[in-house]
Amino acid sequence: MSVFVNNLLESKTAFLTGGTSGIGFGIAQRFAESGAKLMLLGRNPEKLEAAVETIRSKGGVAHGYAADVRDYAALEAAFAKAAEIYGQIDILVCGAAGNFPAPVLGMSANGFKAVVDIDLLGTYNTCRAAYPHLRKPGASILSISANHASQPYPYQAHVCAAKAGVDLLTKTIALEWARDGIRANIITPGPIDDTEGMRRLAPTTEARAAVVTGVPLGRMGTKDDIANLALFLCSEAASFITGAVYVCDGGQALVGLRSLGAVWERTQ
Ligand code: COA
Repeated sequence: MSVFVNNLLESKTAFLTGGTSGIGFGIAQRFAESGAKLMLLGRNPEKLEAAVETIRSKGGVAHGYAADVRDYAALEAAFAKAAEIYGQIDILVCGAAGNFPAPVLGMSANGFKAVVDIDLLGTYNTCRAAYPHLRKPGASILSISANHASQPYPYQAHVCAAKAGVDLLTKTIALEWARDGIRANIITPGPIDDTEGMRRLAPTTEARAAVVTGVPLGRMGTKDDIANLALFLCSEAASFITGAVYVCDGGQALVGLRSLGAVWERTQ
């Protein structure tokens, strides 16, 4: 249990995609500690079961649903199940993402599409399928983006394109659904330690050190850094905030991502 135990999300139900590992699971755990009941959606049934079990073992309330965010019908069924179990859905976190480092000429059209489909189309599918359940004052959506959305990052063209889309999709949803009382915001994490993304982008000790060199605060972020911000944005404490991009990156965006291509090159 963290020192942040509170009741900020008491009586709320949160639905999280990509909520079984990494940043998503960090958010899930913080939400559970704060009183929310959870539905976690992921592709891998074993990872889902383990995540649900971990949350329950700490006194939280959670269920899991195995599905791919590229499958709209499966998402509709997942939201129906969450509504059946909990009677309501108040918070949506779109965290499912895919990534592999590759130059533009080193990925196939299908490789590019795979990431865009998971990150961008997946966020669209999730929000679209959630809408009938979320449609009420006090509901909120959180998209997990990346610095890639606003800056070029060598060997990450597919992620840059997808995350830029995620940001504008989320802002547009914030505008269109404000009349329903739904808020929609974006977190832009920098390099977050102990995540699948960083294992892929900085797989060696040297690469990790080079990434940290480009972070003014001199460290990688933690999953708690992102979870704390997510808790704030999805709580009533942020009730007048919508369509906003919150950068949580130790200042990495101030330096830029261009030099990070060399980090990956040295691991090849
Ligand atoms: N370099 C180049 N192309 C690659 C690649 C790599 N390292 N990894 C996958 N691809 C290509 C595949 O070759 C395939 O293209 P093809 O059909 O032309 O051969 C395409 O991407 C889809 O691969 P596939 O494995 O069938 O897709 P998937 O839907 O099962 O997996 C990924 C999607 C590729 C994003 C996979 O890395 C994934 O599932 N990631 C989830 C976890 C993750 O990335 N977490 C970090 C988030 S920040």
